[in-house]
Amino acid sequence: MNKAIIITLGAILIILFIFLFLVLNNPGILLQNRIKSVNYVNHNTLEIFSWWTAGGEAEGLRELYRLYNLSNPGVEIVNATVVGGAGTNAQAVLNTRMEGNSPPDSFQVHAGPDFVETWVKQGLLEPITFLYENNGWIDKFSPDVIERLSYEGEIYAVPLNIHRGNLVWFNTSIFRKYKLTIPETPEEFFSTMEILANYGITPLALGDKNIWPTIRLFENILIARLGGENYKGLWTGTIHWNSEPIKTVLMDLLNMLEYTNSDHSALTWDEAVQYVIDGKCAMISIGDFAEGYFRAEGLTPEEDFGWFTFPGSQGVFSMFSDTFALPKDAEHRENAIQWLELLGSKRGQDVFNPIKGSISPRIDSDIRYYNNYLKLAREDFSSNFIVGSFIQNAEITAKWKKQITEIILKLIIDRDVPRAAQSLQAAANKQINSE
Ligand code: GAL
Repeated sequence: MNKAIIITLGAILIILFIFLFLVLNNPGILLQNRIKSVNYVNHNTLEIFSWWTAGGEAEGLRELYRLYNLSNPGVEIVNATVVGGAGTNAQAVLNTRMEGNSPPDSFQVHAGPDFVETWVKQGLLEPITFLYENNGWIDKFSPDVIERLSYEGEIYAVPLNIHRGNLVWFNTSIFRKYKLTIPETPEEFFSTMEILANYGITPLALGDKNIWPTIRLFENILIARLGGENYKGLWTGTIHWNSEPIKTVLMDLLNMLEYTNSDHSALTWDEAVQYVIDGKCAMISIGDFAEGYFRAEGLTPEEDFGWFTFPGSQGVFSMFSDTFALPKDAEHRENAIQWLELLGSKRGQDVFNPIKGSISPRIDSDIRYYNNYLKLAREDFSSNFIVGSFIQNAEITAKWKKQITEIILKLIIDRDVPRAAQSLQAAANKQINSE
């Protein structure tokens, strides 16, 4: 054999060897290339619609996609998100899509009366009780959540998490520097804010570009001043809005807003949390998705940031839950079913929630995966008085929520407390009588 042939054969062998080495070490390499080329006309997709775009929530979602693709490597996930509004912006887009008969394969929605009114009763969803039966989930989820997803004996969504709304998050360095203690009553909360303001620190961060964070404050004051039982009574008509305690709440809200950053209407909720991180503000009262955000920004709970129950609302857990539903005629129904099975699984939940800053609605969730904040949240969820957060759709319809929001916005402008209390009562009468 001449030298040239030996060199050519040698080169071929080396290439073959490298090729085999790569494939054996990474079998997916061939598959990935195939998926890429097939994707060009790939109809094997899964479109997931949500409003999770901020730190913590986006990471949690990404991790779920990763898990999904591990068992469904051929499916291309389309991450359809609508930023902002804690769902209000997304809901508007979703309505248009559903009306236009082009639903996503699965979408995020809060558990509660609005879910039932808007989606279930309109016949837009497929009941998925069969998933609960096939996967042995029936007695695995908290009834507080499942009842908010059920209608006439069928369940219509898979709950992924439980969030808490009546909380305050704070910058620990500021609290340490000024030797502040945790306020336990609304009055102590006001004193803390006054002390901070005197030191020239903006006490409370607010980012109400999308309005709802102001209504979150209102809700937290309501729970603190009324207690859980009476807060619930507001939605059934046993507690009246046109009353002295409600006027106190409305005054409290106006006073509290005085302690917020002046640029609040230009900021989103996460930008406001960032103000606490940056030390521009000392505290923020918002749901525990902020916990996921703080960590996504590299902060350590209890060292860099702390939390306390909204003063006066101790013993009450104001919950809301993100769930995913299956629209009727979803184009990739089978892929969506796999997605929902992942969300409902113990593994899916215990991977997602520790990142997101929420607890799992599964009663058998493995608490070892959760940090101290989440462990305490879970303890509180099982021992506290549970109420639904109305601003995050766990208690009333979107229609009623909108009326309350408009009344509060008007109050902020005209500061007419008696009139706001009257209007809130009128809205309640209308809603309760129409049910
Ligand atoms: C809420 C949602 C949370 C969180 C927050 C901000 O409506 O339930 O999961 O993501 O919006 O986006």
